[in-house]
Formats: sequence, C-alpha cells, structure tokens
Amino acid sequence: MKILVINGPNLNMLGIREKNIYGADTYENLLEKIQKYCDNENIEVEFYQSNHEGCLVDRIQEAYFQNIDGIVINPGAYTHTSIAILDALKSVMIPTVEIHISDVKTREPFRQISYVSYYAKKTIMGMGTDGYIEAIKELCK
Ligand code: DQA
Repeated sequence: MKILVINGPNLNMLGIREKNIYGADTYENLLEKIQKYCDNENIEVEFYQSNHEGCLVDRIQEAYFQNIDGIVINPGAYTHTSIAILDALKSVMIPTVEIHISDVKTREPFRQISYVSYYAKKTIMGMGTDGYIEAIKELCK
C-alpha cells in the first residue's frame, strides 16, 4: 500500500497560524505523526505540500504514473474554489479521502462548499491532525 498525503496552501504554517482553530502541532509534527503510524502499519507514505494550485494538480497527475494506491488530501482554501484539483483527482481515479483539521461545516458560509467532496470517498473534519490518521485508515479499509 502506497499512500500520498497532499497538503495545500498555508498548511506549512501549522503551529503558527490560528492555533485556536488548527492547534499547536507544526507541519513537521504532523508528518512525524503520520510517518510513525505508517511505519507501524507497514504502509509506504509520501508527503507533498504546496501553496500553488497548479503544483497540486501536477502532483496529483504524477501520482498516477507512480502507481499510488490512495491519496489523503487537505486542499486548504482550494477546497472551496478549485475545480482544477477536483478534475485532477477525477482524471487519475485514485481512491481519495479529504481531510480538514477544523470542522469546516460550523465555520463561515464560504467554507461550506467543497469541490473535492464531489470525488472523495469520504471527508473527515474537526478531528484536528488525528484526522489524517483516520483518513489513512479509511483508505486501507
Ligand atoms: C482547512 C479548512 C479550510 O477552510 C482552510 O482554508 C484551510 C484549512 C482545514 O484543515 O480545516 O486552510 O482545510
């Protein structure tokens, strides 16, 4: 099992940005937590973070040629705007779980739409960074 964990804009700022919403874990802490879980479960994992929409599309396309079995994606603010990321996921047809650290459903109206949700087999939200582990578990089911 080979999983790719993709994080979109501003998620590299975890531990600095709006800690009351996203918690105190840094992006590095997050990667360590996921890596540890995957090592224990014998899952191969790769990470990618970008603040640029086109780079996220490129990385999703690359995943197809790498034979990635599953994608965990937190598209950040592109969740609510990016048809291009949705189309990339639909193009590669790799099973995908969407994850949000915060509970977007209880936040501002502009966060209520998720384009990625049209493709993702499941969306996990409001569990903090533990949600990434839940997303991996979903992909392994
Ligand atoms: C987020 C929620 C988005 O609305 C926001 O733009 C983010 C992070 C989350 O993980 O809760 O950058 O995806």
